[in-house]
Amino acid sequence: MRLLIMGPPGSGKGTQAAIVAKRFGMPAISTGDIFRANVAEDTPLGREADRYMRAGEYVPDEVTNQMVRDRLNEADTTDGFLLDGYPRTVAQVEFLDSVLAEQGVALDRVIEMVVDVEEVVGRLLARAAEEGRVDDTEEVIRRRQRLYATQTAPLTAVYRERGLLVQVDGMGTVDEVAARMAAALGAADE
Ligand code: AP5
Repeated sequence: MRLLIMGPPGSGKGTQAAIVAKRFGMPAISTGDIFRANVAEDTPLGREADRYMRAGEYVPDEVTNQMVRDRLNEADTTDGFLLDGYPRTVAQVEFLDSVLAEQGVALDRVIEMVVDVEEVVGRLLARAAEEGRVDDTEEVIRRRQRLYATQTAPLTAVYRERGLLVQVDGMGTVDEVAARMAAALGAADE
């Protein structure tokens, strides 16, 4: 299965991606996690991404696209993958289309996590207190929410038109959301 998970910052994409990936035995590929790993290792990619991430802005498409293409060419994605937090722009949608076409494969489902913005801002402020992620200050959290609303939320219309979009209510406990995800993916009884 080839899946995307979309949703505003704090909607639980990463949390649910890990659960779904385990259930289906597929790699969960988070562009945010790859960037953070590169920042931690102080690679050239990490140095480039860091200033955008700190500001709550998107890393430029050409950088992100190349990174995703490389990752999707790794052997563990042959039988399926779950992309978390990519694509986020129209150019990324088009690029992903071209990479999948090159590989002769297609997406099976696009999950959109539907949440209340104030609730997820609260989740991220709580994470800030626990983990200290540099982009979890209130100002940057709100900028990330605005960027999602203007740049990324409109992309769901593209996938709806293709008949791929499934909306999942992201409110409630992690387990409640996971059960809805499983139902949305037709795996509730597994
Ligand atoms: P990324 O790491 O993807 O950050 P994000 O989109 O802001 O999302 P988060 O990781 O903050 O939230 P999430 O929805 O994954 O929720 P999570 O499960 O973590 O990207 C970071 C940055 O990298 C971007 O700002 C950008 O600069 C760059 N970037 C990444 N992809 C890019 C792209 N494609 N193009 C350009 N730039 C890109 O949960 C959040 C918190 O809530 C956690 O503490 C969790 O424990 C908690 N939680 C989860 N579910 C629940 C629940 N049901 N109830 C209560 N708490 C919950």
